Amino acid sequence: MKSKYSSIKCANYFHIYDELFKKYKNKKITFVEIGIFSGGSLFMWRNYFGKNARIIGIDLNPVSKRFEKYGFEIFIGDQSSEHFWKNFYKTVGKVDIVLDDGGHTNFQQIVTINQSIPMIKNGGKMVVEDVHTSFIKQNWYNPSKFSFINYSKKIIEDINTRFPNIKNFNFSLKNYIYKIEFFESIVSFDINRKLCKKNKFVENQKKSIKPIEYRNNIDKKSFLFKLKKYLKLRTNFTYPIFLINSFKLKKYFK
Ligand SMILES: C[S@@+](CC[C@H](N)C(=O)[O-])C[C@H]1O[C@@H](n2cnc3c(N)ncnc32)[C@H](O)[C@@H]1O
Repeated sequence: MKSKYSSIKCANYFHIYDELFKKYKNKKITFVEIGIFSGGSLFMWRNYFGKNARIIGIDLNPVSKRFEKYGFEIFIGDQSSEHFWKNFYKTVGKVDIVLDDGGHTNFQQIVTINQSIPMIKNGGKMVVEDVHTSFIKQNWYNPSKFSFINYSKKIIEDINTRFPNIKNFNFSLKNYIYKIEFFESIVSFDINRKLCKKNKFVENQKKSIKPIEYRNNIDKKSFLFKLKKYLKLRTNFTYPIFLINSFKLKKYFK
């Protein structure tokens, strides 16, 4: 509201911005926003992060250059071009935060995060807003297999391959993304290469009470237990139980 140039943001975003960005306030950070439009948000970020922040705006529209006179760094280019990003990061170096408020198509969002995440410092964030476009038919042609939200779900699977013996993807960001936060309309990726270690078990070598694993325990009153007793079976029926439970779970997936 204090900005002298126009900006349109969604009402729910301000709380989320503060939750994600408060630790960077008054720090010497490099913040990049894709999408300048009338320039209003650049002034909001200056006010929020303080004078030590380097604030960079990116837009396709060359008129955006006018905001350079206010101390912002403005780059004109296409966020869906890998070539643009290579030149951009060659010029500005590694950054702390990238916020995507650009064109919001699947292609723009996915190219942007793939080109930007390797160039975000440890402790930084890649934040994509207006991801509700993943669910909108008109103009966005979603839902689609290649929506940004579906790509984010792939990244959930990708970071879980840090657990041993889970099939890896050919294309992976798992060595950069430590965690992902999902909000309504916003997805945020925390970048920290040091925390992206392959997982392993550690045992404390202390006294064991030799407990029985109750995971596959069958209720003594159940039909399966009675059947098992009657047929003198040794099986734990884990697979039939899995199938029955999967059927029961269907209601939660509707
Ligand atoms: C939603 S507006 C940005 C609003 C601004 N952040 C604010 O809060 O006031 C989206 C901007 O993204 C720009 N844009 C659209 N497609 C783009 C692309 N492929 N690359 C870079 N910028 C793009 C548009 O020119 C427009 O200025």
